[in-house]
Amino acid sequence: MKIDIAYFTSTGNTLWLAQRARDLMGAEGHAVRLFDPVAQPGGFANDADLLGILYPVWASTLPDPLQALVQALPRGEGRRLFLLGNCAIFTGDTGMHWKRRIEPRGYDVFFVDHLLMPINVNVPGFNFWPVPPPEEVRAILGRADEKLAEVCAAILSGERRVDGTDLASPHLGSEAPRSAPSTGRPLCGSAPTPWPPIAARAVASACVCVP
Ligand SMILES: Cc1cc2nc3c(=O)[nH]c(=O)nc-3n(C[C@H](O)[C@H](O)[C@H](O)COP(=O)(O)O)c2cc1C
Repeated sequence: MKIDIAYFTSTGNTLWLAQRARDLMGAEGHAVRLFDPVAQPGGFANDADLLGILYPVWASTLPDPLQALVQALPRGEGRRLFLLGNCAIFTGDTGMHWKRRIEPRGYDVFFVDHLLMPINVNVPGFNFWPVPPPEEVRAILGRADEKLAEVCAAILSGERRVDGTDLASPHLGSEAPRSAPSTGRPLCGSAPTPWPPIAARAVASACVCVP
C-alpha cells in the first residue's frame, strides 16, 4: 500500500515520530512517503492509498501549516486518512475537531489518537511545564515509542479509533477555544497562538476569519 504522511515539527518530536512510523510501516511492506508542507509544498495525497497527518498540538489545534494543508486537500473520494497528534500535556479533542473538518471533504478519517512527548523548550517567563530532566525524557520517549508501534499496527489493521471523545476533552480542546467549527470558516493563519488552551478561550472569536 502507498502511504503518504504529512507532518509539521517545531522542535523535532513530530519528525521523530514520523520517521519511526515510516520505518514501522515500511517494515510491513508498505511504501511510506513523508511530506513536510513547509519545506516541500505539494505532492501529498496525489496517489496514495492511505493518508496520515502527524501533528504537534499547538494550543489545542493543528499548527498553521497543517491547517493550510487540510484546507488545500483535494476531494477525498472516500480515501482513508488517520490523524496522530502529539502533545506535552493534553490534546483535548484536537483530533476529533479536525476529523469533523476533514470528513466533509470526502475522507474517511477512521483513526484519531495522540501520544505524549517531552516538551523541548522552556519558554521564558512561562515555566508551568519546564523541559523534564533527561531520565524523564527517556521514559516519555520509551512510552511514546511503544504506543507508536501499537498505533501503527492498529492503523494498518484498519482499526477505527476516536480519541478525545470523553466528557472533559471538548472543554479543553479545539472545540472550546475556537467554537466555530459549524461555520466551516478557516482560522486566521496570522493569528497569534495562545497557550495554554484555556487562555485561548479569551481570544476565540478573534481567531476566526471573516470570509
Ligand atoms: C506554540 C506551542 C503550543 C503548544 N500547545 C500545546 C497544547 O495546547 N497542549 C499540549 O499538551 N502541548 C502543547 N505544546 C507542546 C507540543 O505539542 C509538544 O512539545 C510537541 O511534542 C512538539 O512537537 P514538535 O517538536 O514536533 O513541534 C505546544 C508547543 C508549542 C511550541
